[in-house]
Amino acid sequence: MNKVTVIGAGFVGATAAQRILEKELADVVLLDVVEGLAQGKALDMMQSTSVEGFTTNIVGTTNYADTKKSDIVVITAGLARKPGMTRDDLQAKNAEIVGGIVSEVVRYSPESIIIVVTNPLDVMTYMTLKKSGFPASRVIGMAGVLDSARYAYFLSVETKVPANEIQAMVLGGHGDLMVPLPKYTLIKGKPVTEIIPAEKLNAINVRTQNGGVEIVNLLKTGSAYYAPSSSAVAMVEAILKDSGKVLPCCAYLSGEYGFQNVYCGVPVRLTRNGVDKVIELQLTPEEKEALKRSVAQVTEQVGKLKI
Ligand code: LAC
Repeated sequence: MNKVTVIGAGFVGATAAQRILEKELADVVLLDVVEGLAQGKALDMMQSTSVEGFTTNIVGTTNYADTKKSDIVVITAGLARKPGMTRDDLQAKNAEIVGGIVSEVVRYSPESIIIVVTNPLDVMTYMTLKKSGFPASRVIGMAGVLDSARYAYFLSVETKVPANEIQAMVLGGHGDLMVPLPKYTLIKGKPVTEIIPAEKLNAINVRTQNGGVEIVNLLKTGSAYYAPSSSAVAMVEAILKDSGKVLPCCAYLSGEYGFQNVYCGVPVRLTRNGVDKVIELQLTPEEKEALKRSVAQVTEQVGKLKI
């Protein structure tokens, strides 16, 4: 049986663990520094086995030794932004938390693939690469699947076409400068630009860019976790099943799209080895410019890291 460790038993981590279990993708180790939290949630999930009928197993722990030899480690731990906290404050705090986690992952699961979920996503993924010393193919961030899923949902509401018949594509960093690509977004195989008028489409693009904030504003005390956990688990599934599926992920660029030594959202082919290939789409000059702005924002934030 495959083994997946989820670090952080908050809403994203616990929901990801639940989805992995119920889809029977792997046995799960759920780890949290808060004594009892991961243990309690794991026990609660195990008590649902006879009802749900899954055969996979979950263990909750505070001890990294239990994560030994994981195939995949999903890092969700970190602080969420609180009122009065700048993006930079969040980055400094989460860099500390994620940095500590990465050392333990390297120690206990040196062959694993790491999927980073903690924000600010592109920066945390870059830091994880540098701290781990892993090849870039084994350090991937989760954002593109989520951003594209949100895009697909909003397009589905507008067109009344079920979201699973919409192939949406969003590139760039996981921030307000992300780049929805209408030309590569297909509704029943047809480009969305041929279906939705430009003005309407633009409003949907903007809503997608603010997809996370819209939920934070509604919840007030937290941020999204259902769609984020689904998105992380879609990556876990593609990797464990060696599916070769192309998903938009936060991946390391070494020349692709004209960028070097930076992480950003691009379509990648996922296999048992992680990122098998970055897929380069043909972009219009405007899309290239938008991607450049988004990457510049990520690079600026990375510059503030103390690695
Ligand atoms: C989101 C935040 C949490 O997109 O990044 O929901």
